[in-house]
Amino acid sequence: MTDIAREVVLARPALSLPVAADFTLVDRAVTPPEGEGWLRVRPLFLSLDPYIGARLRGRHMGERAPVPGETLPGFCVAEVEESRAPAFVAGDRVVVEAGWTDVAWVRSEDARRVSTDIAPSLHLSVLGMPGLTAWAGMTQLAKTGTGDVLTVNAAAGTVGGVAGQITKNLGGHAIGIAGGPEKCALVVDRYGFDACADYRGDDWETRLVSAVGDGSTIHHENVGAGQLAIGIRLLRPYGRVVLCGLADHYHADAGPAVTAIGPIVGKRAQVFGLVVYDFYPRWAEWTALAEPWVKAGRLTIAEDIGEGLDAAPRQIERLMRGENVGKTLIKIDG
Ligand SMILES: NC(=O)c1ccc[n+]([C@@H]2O[C@H](COP(=O)([O-])OP(=O)(O)OC[C@H]3O[C@@H](n4cnc5c(N)ncnc54)[C@H](OP(=O)(O)O)[C@@H]3O)[C@@H](O)[C@H]2O)c1
Repeated sequence: MTDIAREVVLARPALSLPVAADFTLVDRAVTPPEGEGWLRVRPLFLSLDPYIGARLRGRHMGERAPVPGETLPGFCVAEVEESRAPAFVAGDRVVVEAGWTDVAWVRSEDARRVSTDIAPSLHLSVLGMPGLTAWAGMTQLAKTGTGDVLTVNAAAGTVGGVAGQITKNLGGHAIGIAGGPEKCALVVDRYGFDACADYRGDDWETRLVSAVGDGSTIHHENVGAGQLAIGIRLLRPYGRVVLCGLADHYHADAGPAVTAIGPIVGKRAQVFGLVVYDFYPRWAEWTALAEPWVKAGRLTIAEDIGEGLDAAPRQIERLMRGENVGKTLIKIDG
């Protein structure tokens, strides 16, 4: 059966930070592929992530930029409607890079089956790639444990929010940094951080220093060189630094992220670069730890949801501007 897919595509090459006008919606005939090993999937939610801005310009991990009119790459949680692969049946729920579309045929080996007894959107946030990133940074690189004091920025977002909740669940303290009072309230009241400093507010560094007290033992960087310098300054000797994201440097016209190495030497700090791809083979370890926390209410995330693919251009612009509060998603079906 040939489907008519609703898709979001680039209307023009993305030369700068993406804005809504860079995208357009099209209807496209999707013909079933020949042969075995295919799944016909119906996406429930599409994940929008900060790396997309760089990916659309061909500046992400060597991946080529999509051309106007082409299906945009993006991960979805989806329901299998038809399976031509023995490992899957209709009704399975999977996470797969189906693209910005409401129906697709995907290779079965590219699909990861996920549980159906948890809200589907969580497989793109706390249990998905950003959650795995936080797990890798906190437990595999920084090796957080009892008594650690974490500072983490973009703390209302998935990576930052989950990093802090992991630290708290494993016996440490978490101090967030976020942009605006709404985000900071979320970080403390819902995510359970000990404190959160609003870097848009007056005298915010003084309030951060007082929240951190005797110094931090781990700094997790999601934003860029400016806040990294502050994180390193607050670190105790022999602290650990996880370099995860550069949300403030992804703009096409932004300069490179540059940081002074003297303070790193002075603090005898260990600095870890993090690429989540390295941890994809270990997804089951994170799921085994995280699912019970989710079910017990000890791991949560706010969701910033756009309804329908029509909302995707506006949602990606919000995310690129840092206006999102929590995990940015498009609800497609379900
Ligand atoms: N290394 C890896 O493998 C890996 C994997 C996944 C994600 N990451 C990175 O981890 C970071 C957090 O990811 P996430 O998915 O949880 O995203 P997110 O926190 O939901 O969104 C990014 C946040 O960055 C902050 N930000 C600060 N300056 C910004 C600017 N100039 N433009 C846009 N945003 C700005 C904003 O929060 P505030 O308003 O609170 O500052 C914004 O909400 C990102 O840098 C992402 O690229 C890295």
